[in-house]
Amino acid sequence: MRNFTFHNPTKIIFGKGTIGALKREIPEGKKIMVVYGGGSIKHNGTYEEIMSALEGREVHEFSGVEPNPTYETLMQCVEQVKAKGCDFLIAAGGGSVIDGTKFIAAAALFDDDPWKIIQTFGSCVKQALPFASVLTLPATGSEMNSGSVITRAATKAKLPFNSSKVFPVFSVLDPLKTYTLPPRQVANGIVDAFVHISEQYLTQPAQASVQDRFAEGLLQTLIEEGPLALKDPEHYEVRANIMWCATMALNGLIGAGVPQDWSTHMIGHELTALYGLDHAVTLAIVLPSNLTLRKPSKLEKLAQFGRRVWNIKSGNDEHQATESIRLTREFFESLGVKTRLSDYNIGQEGIEKVVAQLKSHQMIKLGENGEVDLEMSRQILELCL
Ligand code: NZQ
Ligand code: ZN
Repeated sequence: MRNFTFHNPTKIIFGKGTIGALKREIPEGKKIMVVYGGGSIKHNGTYEEIMSALEGREVHEFSGVEPNPTYETLMQCVEQVKAKGCDFLIAAGGGSVIDGTKFIAAAALFDDDPWKIIQTFGSCVKQALPFASVLTLPATGSEMNSGSVITRAATKAKLPFNSSKVFPVFSVLDPLKTYTLPPRQVANGIVDAFVHISEQYLTQPAQASVQDRFAEGLLQTLIEEGPLALKDPEHYEVRANIMWCATMALNGLIGAGVPQDWSTHMIGHELTALYGLDHAVTLAIVLPSNLTLRKPSKLEKLAQFGRRVWNIKSGNDEHQATESIRLTREFFESLGVKTRLSDYNIGQEGIEKVVAQLKSHQMIKLGENGEVDLEMSRQILELCL
């Protein structure tokens, strides 16, 4: 196992009817900005519960953060936060709203061009406003991590930043609030969490038994419970398990002390930026081909994945690895997420555009061992057709 430091300061408040906790968790006297998206929080009681918990406080609100949040929209909120002197933010929604709020929190206290936060992948962030999240879509893990992905609409650049200053102070996870998710977003959330685990687990053996067994348990939970959430949307325990699973998939725990890949995500971000595909859709397209092409360097872990997660008992490592990739693709498809570029009318010409974007964003040595250069990205994408 590699050396690591693990520090996750985000407090999690989990369960039915927990949004009222905002009242006791946010210190008196704070000027609060509630940030949300296109209005889903008004259809499932989230907005009402937040406002009632904050009764008597100074509360402002900013709506309209879009899926794949844009710099352009978020900067409007930064101006309002500054103008009103807000000193505490609440992100109410899915990963996009939480990611957007992380950027707002950092940009509000940044005295240079805020795009530099993204250009430096967050390394120039020295401080940020404190914020909490009220999660309504289990998927990204943003509620308990320090990452964020922002899109500059003008240049079609979708890029991540990371800073220990943008961990949420606390996050409220009420599974009841996920009942209103449309099936497409339920499926997206399952695929996104699945691929987060894959990016940290399907690399090379690091003799990290705890991380491996955690990752395998999380993957099995998604395989078992994911389809049930689609079949029976108001099954509380299923929703609760998926919600906690998605948080645990990307809060630093399973990634500590092991190699990490993330090439599927970086290629996927370009597909979203260019073609507007949902984040999870891009992952469902790229992951199976990425694993297939890089099977030689990932063989041992892929075979372990096959034996322990997919219960493949027969054959050699090569067979088990191949089968595990096939079953993974089948799982995504069974959730209603198509896994081929051609399913979305993207052909060879699109691949050239993605590769050009990767080049311009310096995404030229991806993967846990840097083997995914532009040529390999092209080959992966060609396998996705
Ligand atoms: O905008 P509203 O009206 O709230 O509607 C949203 C949105 O249209 C809707 N929704 C959310 N909760 C709902 C609901 N609809 C009904 N009932 C509910 N309870 O769902 C739509 C999608 O929301 P979004 O926040 O965009 O989805 P998701 O949580 O999948 O977030 C995706 C974003 O997170 C980034 C992605 O790149 C993408 O921009 N990621 C962030 C990561 C991180 N911070 O660690 C890691 C991920 O890999 C990912 O890259
Ligand atoms: Zn993701």
